[in-house]
Amino acid sequence: MKRLATMAAQVLWFLLTPTVAFSYLIPLPPLVAAASGSDIAPLPPVVAAPRPGCPSMCGNVNIPYPFGIGDECALGSDFAITCNHSFNPPRPYTGDFEVISISLEAGEMRVFSDVSYICYNSSKTTDSTGVITWTLSFNPAFLISPTRNVFTGIGCDTWAYLNGREDFSFFSGCITTCNSLDEAAEDNEVCTGLGCCQSSIPTKLTTIKIGWGNQENYRNLAWEYSPCNYAFIGEKGWYHFNRTDLTRDANNKTFTDRVGSRTIPMVLDWAIRDGGSCKAPPKDAGASAKPTAPACISRNSFCVSATQGPGYLCNCSKGYTGNPYDADVTRGCANINECSSTTNGPCGMYSTCEDTDGDYNCKCNFNRKGDGKSENGCYEYVFPPYAIAAAAITLVVILACLSIILLMRREQKKLFNKNGGDILKEVGIKIFTKGEVKTITKSYRNRIGGGYFGDVYEGTIIDDTYTPQALQVAVKCTVAKKVARLRQKSLRREAPQHEQEKLWKEGFVREICFQFKVKHPNMVRLIGCCLETDVPILVFEFVGKGSLHEVLHGANKLTLTLPKRLDIAIGSAEALSHMHSHGDYKHVHGDVKSANILLDDNLNPKVSDFGSSKLLSVKNYAMDVAADGNYTDPVYHNTGHFTVKSDVYSFGVVLLELITRKKPRYGSGDANILTIDYKKSSKNHCTARMYDAEILCDGNAQSHQYMECLDMVGALAIRCLSEDADERPTMAEVVDELNQVKSIACRSSCYHLS
Ligand SMILES: *[C@@H]1O[C@H](CO)[C@@H](O)[C@H](O)[C@H]1NC(C)=O
Ligand SMILES: *[C@@H]1O[C@H](CO)[C@@H](O)[C@H](O)[C@H]1NC(C)=O
Ligand SMILES: *[C@@H]1O[C@H](CO)[C@@H](O)[C@H](O)[C@H]1NC(C)=O
Ligand SMILES: *[C@@H]1O[C@H](CO)[C@@H](O)[C@H](O)[C@H]1NC(C)=O
Ligand SMILES: *[C@@H]1O[C@H](CO)[C@@H](O)[C@H](O)[C@H]1NC(C)=O
Repeated sequence: MKRLATMAAQVLWFLLTPTVAFSYLIPLPPLVAAASGSDIAPLPPVVAAPRPGCPSMCGNVNIPYPFGIGDECALGSDFAITCNHSFNPPRPYTGDFEVISISLEAGEMRVFSDVSYICYNSSKTTDSTGVITWTLSFNPAFLISPTRNVFTGIGCDTWAYLNGREDFSFFSGCITTCNSLDEAAEDNEVCTGLGCCQSSIPTKLTTIKIGWGNQENYRNLAWEYSPCNYAFIGEKGWYHFNRTDLTRDANNKTFTDRVGSRTIPMVLDWAIRDGGSCKAPPKDAGASAKPTAPACISRNSFCVSATQGPGYLCNCSKGYTGNPYDADVTRGCANINECSSTTNGPCGMYSTCEDTDGDYNCKCNFNRKGDGKSENGCYEYVFPPYAIAAAAITLVVILACLSIILLMRREQKKLFNKNGGDILKEVGIKIFTKGEVKTITKSYRNRIGGGYFGDVYEGTIIDDTYTPQALQVAVKCTVAKKVARLRQKSLRREAPQHEQEKLWKEGFVREICFQFKVKHPNMVRLIGCCLETDVPILVFEFVGKGSLHEVLHGANKLTLTLPKRLDIAIGSAEALSHMHSHGDYKHVHGDVKSANILLDDNLNPKVSDFGSSKLLSVKNYAMDVAADGNYTDPVYHNTGHFTVKSDVYSFGVVLLELITRKKPRYGSGDANILTIDYKKSSKNHCTARMYDAEILCDGNAQSHQYMECLDMVGALAIRCLSEDADERPTMAEVVDELNQVKSIACRSSCYHLS
């Protein structure tokens, strides 16, 4: 009870007589007392941005603008730092506080703080005291940071007082007791009143007094084991309790002696408080706009309200670093190159860091997707199955096409060689590719004829080497299957296949060479061939008026005078004669018929399709194919051999056609056979009714002469049609006789055509 009363009295006394209570008060000790060098970890360094000519450092301390050494270098006198060069290294001061470091980002300044203490050499007598009393009111920029500092008392019979404000109306503190050293807290334990105690600090504290008292007034009951009481304000986390702090150490040093005046850090909040404050950005400036203030002059800076009290601070925008109070581009808030911090910056292993102005990107590497900046980072990009399938199919198709093209090339090459291309090339025959043939025929557009073996198309070769440049041609395409079938038939019967192939090739090459070399005005000229097909495509000169067959019997019937008919007969016969006598190898046409005698625009005959049987290399060609049996030599039927006389026989039929304008088989149901009918009427001397009436109706006709001529031709034809081949004339003889007939026909008034 007594104790409580004394306590109350003491508090009352302290409150009422603040100055008396600090009768031990000594002038504020200079904050420069010699002490061991501090080993306080400095805050992260801030880039210095002093004005031109102003030093940025004082000793080892960075002095960033708005702070400066002297009024001229600082934003105002509030931020002026004095640098005392009588120390080495020099020490910066603001007021009486020695500055440890300044942080622009946090708006903080760390300074050295002092300890208030009292030590007893008996329960009632003291041998040393020290009391802190100071005010920050000299400088409105500074306030004690309530969050970063803590008030601490040390001792075993200690009441630590914290007295503040101009009128000292603030009064707080903490009490710590221990009946013996053993009852004190263990080393490093939290200060809870056993040897040490701590209490928080209010905001907006500028003036401070730190004092102490005892349980019993002016009596330290614990003086023998804990002679001193200590109290101080220090940075939170700096002090850790240690029982040695209660006693004197081996060198008779107290806690005060040990820490001196340059050890305990204290954090001050600073701000620009000269009436300014953050101004909200204009409404139309966009969502990302930040508040501004006069001192925040760097381009990428914005204003932040002071952590306590009035005023503001400046800060760099996100992604920028530097001094927001400095307008200089490099010293002010500048882009942070995030990517340079480590090899790949803040980006993960699957992305590549790319610095941008005020930011950075993490671009995902190949085959990865996502945002490298996000928590998930870049994940492996799995191609969707349909994409893989599509790619695979495309690949297969391309490969298939390539192999098909390759096979086709090989096949074409093979055919080319099989067809004797190598030999023919040397002879000088124009050899066309399949593509060229397609171009020539304009994709086989105009079919002008054909038969069992294939089709004939009209075409045009455009070539600078020709005169005229555009040459009309007939392209003869043979249907491979039908030929192949025939060829197969003949092959099976005889020698081994490769032997046969060789023979065929030789025969074909020889025939083509012959056709190419033999040049006669009444023979259709071979221009070239294409060997890339199974059966070669042959390109002939184009003969305009069509075949004799068409002119006599067909749709485009023409009026033909006897001399004209004789000219046609003579021309054709000359061609066949030339063929039969040419070279060492006897060339047989094999398929002489009116359909194979073509007429050009002047009605000059041109024999075509010679050597067909050779080209097709089929002995029993006529039988198998049922080529025009009406023209076929009966001897061939018996022997199976074509001879030049077989051509003569066929030509006989053509002669009869010419003078009668009747088909070899004519009449209703083709019941009448021309050769038989003519022979019959010749025997009965009534040939006149067989002849084409048109001949005798000709205005120029001398019927007497013409009848004679027609009978002569008829007689020649009958000789050609003789059953006995030996009785037939040769083609040369036929030519001679026809010329004689012509001279009779033109005896008086004939006009010469050739
Ligand atoms: C520098 O410090 C010394 C020692 O404390 C003191 O005597 C002197 O006055 C100081 N100088 C200034 C300019 O404050
Ligand atoms: C300034 O910005 C930094 C980084 O964005 C931040 O850590 C700091 O707290 C800010 N300072 C103030 C006073 O808002
Ligand atoms: C305690 O210290 C004071 C001042 O130094 C001195 O006057 C006094 O005699 C001392 N008392 C004892 C008991 O040592
Ligand atoms: C307490 O202080 C003493 C003397 O300064 C020191 O030797 C000891 O290591 C400290 N103990 C701890 C736990 O810090
Ligand atoms: C320790 O210091 C105190 C006061 O300074 C003094 O009274 C005492 O005699 C000293 N003791 C030793 C052992 O030096």
